Amino acid sequence: MPLRVAVCISGRGSNLEALLRSLGPTDGVSVVLVISNRADAGGLAVARDHDVPTAVVANTATADDWLRVLEAHRVDFVVLAGFLRKVPAEVIAQYRGRLINVHPALLPDHGGPGMYGLNVHRAVLARGDLESGATVHGVTEQYDDGPILGQARVPVRPDDTPEALAARVLAVEHRLLPAAVRAAARTGRAVPFTLND
Ligand code: GRF
Repeated sequence: MPLRVAVCISGRGSNLEALLRSLGPTDGVSVVLVISNRADAGGLAVARDHDVPTAVVANTATADDWLRVLEAHRVDFVVLAGFLRKVPAEVIAQYRGRLINVHPALLPDHGGPGMYGLNVHRAVLARGDLESGATVHGVTEQYDDGPILGQARVPVRPDDTPEALAARVLAVEHRLLPAAVRAAARTGRAVPFTLND
């Protein structure tokens, strides 16, 4: 039985699309639901293009609202891919060990509240870091704080703008997240992995 995965997005969904495109019939993964807190999220169109059911879960949604939709689709595993809201604590508890997030920096650096989008890359450049990258981690009640499961590194170039660095990091996110999900499919649990998984 394939691992039944829900992907939560708030924006364009390029990580969702990369995941959907990367999955093959032998990976043991089925993306069964895409959730967004925004009805206008571009990622919902990506889901529809891939015939994946969608659900809009408003920012005011309760944990029960979340659990009802997750249970209705018999979701085994949850991926946050550009989801910009906190998942209710009861949902994190219910999916502990089966809930991951992709972050566009090398955690534990450059994470936490407010560290999303270009803010992350501005912070990397402002600190003069020589490299950046992406992290997939387990999700806990604190932002970007769970166990680091896998990372991919990219160089920071001297003339980088936040946008240029963001694009370089996004390219490795698109490889890192599918590897994380394939590794999880083997046991049904979020596990340490490498880009080659
Ligand atoms: C990605 O950079 C991800 O790391 C961060 O939000 C962004 C989502 O981009 N959490 P997309 O919606 O997957 O294109």
